[in-house]
Amino acid sequence: MRESLAVVLAAGEGTRMRSALPKVLHRIGHLPMVGHVLKTLGSAGIDRLAVVVGPNHGAVRAAVGELAPHASIHMQEQRLGTAHAVLAARPELEHATDDVLVVYGDTPFVTPEAIAHLRAGLAEGASVVVAGFRPESPKGYGRLVMEGERLLAIREEKDASEAERQITLCNAGMMAFRGDVALAILDAIGSDNAQKEFYLTDAVEVANDRGLRVDVAEIAADEVFGINDRVQLAGAEQLFQAQRRRAAMVEGATLIAPETVFFAHDTVLGRDVTIEPNVVFGPGVTVADNVVIRAFSHIEGAQVASGATVGPFARLRPGAEIGEGAHIGNFVEIKAATVETGAKVNHLTYIGDARVGAKSNIGAGTVTCNYDGVNKFRTDIGANAFIGSNSSLVAPIAIGDGAYVASGSVLTEDVEADALAFGRARQVAKPGRAAVLREAQKDRRKPT
Ligand code: UD1
Ligand code: CA
Repeated sequence: MRESLAVVLAAGEGTRMRSALPKVLHRIGHLPMVGHVLKTLGSAGIDRLAVVVGPNHGAVRAAVGELAPHASIHMQEQRLGTAHAVLAARPELEHATDDVLVVYGDTPFVTPEAIAHLRAGLAEGASVVVAGFRPESPKGYGRLVMEGERLLAIREEKDASEAERQITLCNAGMMAFRGDVALAILDAIGSDNAQKEFYLTDAVEVANDRGLRVDVAEIAADEVFGINDRVQLAGAEQLFQAQRRRAAMVEGATLIAPETVFFAHDTVLGRDVTIEPNVVFGPGVTVADNVVIRAFSHIEGAQVASGATVGPFARLRPGAEIGEGAHIGNFVEIKAATVETGAKVNHLTYIGDARVGAKSNIGAGTVTCNYDGVNKFRTDIGANAFIGSNSSLVAPIAIGDGAYVASGSVLTEDVEADALAFGRARQVAKPGRAAVLREAQKDRRKPT
């Protein structure tokens, strides 16, 4: 097995994003784009990870620390170009390694196969392997200047001649180096170009000058989609969603209108899950087998057990745990609450910071009043309880197993098991008084 090091470049300003957020932290499928890259490098079996971040990019540093705790982080003090950025990881480059990969943090769809493809070139004797691709429009990309099978140079758009700009094979932004020559090549790169930057792409000419073999590994355009602005960010999201929808269907979920369902990077679906149109998944959702997610539901940070139904128009927020066969109906919001096996919360209800015991039925319009403006409190509803419609349960409160709450109740005290609780004024009806009232109103009517 060849040893490997990947250097991820994430120090760019991302000026074209016009954002206070560093570019590589913009999300695709709710995961920062650099997270996609780190995830892929992890599954490609790369031994060591080094991430290069910018001087005022504490947020990137923190995100990388969470996403890839084993990665070393290096600061590029001044942004003097991609080659200069790689050299920020010099301590890692000085360690002997067979393969050194340079991957851009703004190219989130790199696949483990593409990385293997580049490494295969090194294993076959190349000193440098460049990932090439043919974009729909080559504008903005470095062009691969070939002579037959030989890669002579990469020319950045700004430095390219008219003839070079006609080239359709472009630099994808991923490169592999033989570990024992990587540092020498990088150190030899200068900044004599339109942008006065140290271009990583000049590694090709340096290697050629030294008589080293330079290969191109052609990669599918989808895999090396680079993001520089928000239009491309939206394009990336679209691409990501298309892949995820396809994967969900291939793995056994029915999507009635796949183009209207939006997944997060970590959405987990069981088998025979049905997802109706217009459903949005935020991060941290696991859906077990045989669940039906009905139209227009929004789900994040939630677990849904087998056979449950959710929606239409349901909202599951972080900490929602929906038990086996439970029903969550229309206009119901569940937050940090467990709805146990077979329980039903079918209409117009808010359940927050709560437990709803097995087989309990929560009537339409029930609200757990969990917040007093300062603190949050819990509601605990036992099994087989019945909460009448339009009840307010003022937490902290416990409703025992089998208890029955009359509709329209406002409850502020615990209800013991099997008790019947009323928390409302007694009804009063005065015979004939409606007619009397009407007469009185007529007399008071203002002349028009
Ligand atoms: C780069 C390539 C280009 C290629 C394209 C593919 C160079 C000189 N050009 O152009 O040939 O077609 O990617 O998408 O390499 N970065 C730093 N520090 C720096 C400068 C950049 O960390 O000083 C990082 C950025 O965060 C980014 C990556 O390097 O992740 C690429 O930089 P960017 O400025 O986006 O390069 P492009 O102009 O897109
Ligand atoms: Ca770029």
